[in-house]
Amino acid sequence: MKNLLQLSTLSKEEIMDILNDAIKMSQGEGLDSCKDKIVANLFFEPSTRTQYSFNVAEEKLGCKVISFNAAASSLQKGESFYDTVKTFESFGIDAVVIRSRQDEYYKELVGRISIPILNAGDGVKDHPTQSLLDLLTIYQEYGKFEGLKIAIVGDIKHSRVAHTNIEVMERLGMTCYISGPEEYRDDEYTYIPFDQAVEEMDILMLLRVQHERHEKEMSLSKEEYHARYGLTMERVHKMKEHAIIMHPAPFNRMVEIADDVVECDKSRIFKQVNNGVYVRMAVIRRAFGG
Ligand code: NCD
Repeated sequence: MKNLLQLSTLSKEEIMDILNDAIKMSQGEGLDSCKDKIVANLFFEPSTRTQYSFNVAEEKLGCKVISFNAAASSLQKGESFYDTVKTFESFGIDAVVIRSRQDEYYKELVGRISIPILNAGDGVKDHPTQSLLDLLTIYQEYGKFEGLKIAIVGDIKHSRVAHTNIEVMERLGMTCYISGPEEYRDDEYTYIPFDQAVEEMDILMLLRVQHERHEKEMSLSKEEYHARYGLTMERVHKMKEHAIIMHPAPFNRMVEIADDVVECDKSRIFKQVNNGVYVRMAVIRRAFGG
């Protein structure tokens, strides 16, 4: 039984194994390899890509899938998070995929739930499968991690994507910078001015402003954000020839990214979405010992 809670607990070798498995999955391996398994997707926070790509990954592996609707569940009658998960375990489910607004929600489950738990995002802390799909996208592009430079731009403070990625990318030999509005910076990381990042990076990763996690409103208007930190075509033309653009999505057009940049030649945004399915197939099969 293998949980996937925090990417920082996986060795570089384990990470490379998952990426190589995901590549094989993208070439058609693994279909129907988990036919006898039932997986429940318990999303306590909104999600499109993560939730439904887990769903597609499970279907491709041949699993039976149960999708939980928090708004129509007994959570509305006051049932606790733990009791909800325990209920699914008691049904005889083989694994649970969980997303929650609460940082490290899994701490109250570990040792009390005996089926594999796959973390689909916890608060501002971790998003292991997002980082794995980001790594796969970078690996397909450059065939390596060592020596690559990435700037992650936007609401760093509230982004589990930034936190998870910076830890693992530095471990794999990449140099990571952060950029974006001062109010969302995290002093733990190295800051680079946005226009310098545009010209110098191999990878620009844009983030959405996480309004739902803020206590007070952003001090910039959307227009000001776009003018200072938005990736426009004018800025794209200043990027290195081989450099690429990434975004975990959902993106807010004309805030962090201009309309015509979303699907431009340098954008790998929908490639990331596609890779998400294969990475999730790989981690589900791993959870079952495959
Ligand atoms: C991210 C998330 O939920 O952390 N999205 C995703 O999983 N693809 C980023 C975000 O919500 O901005």
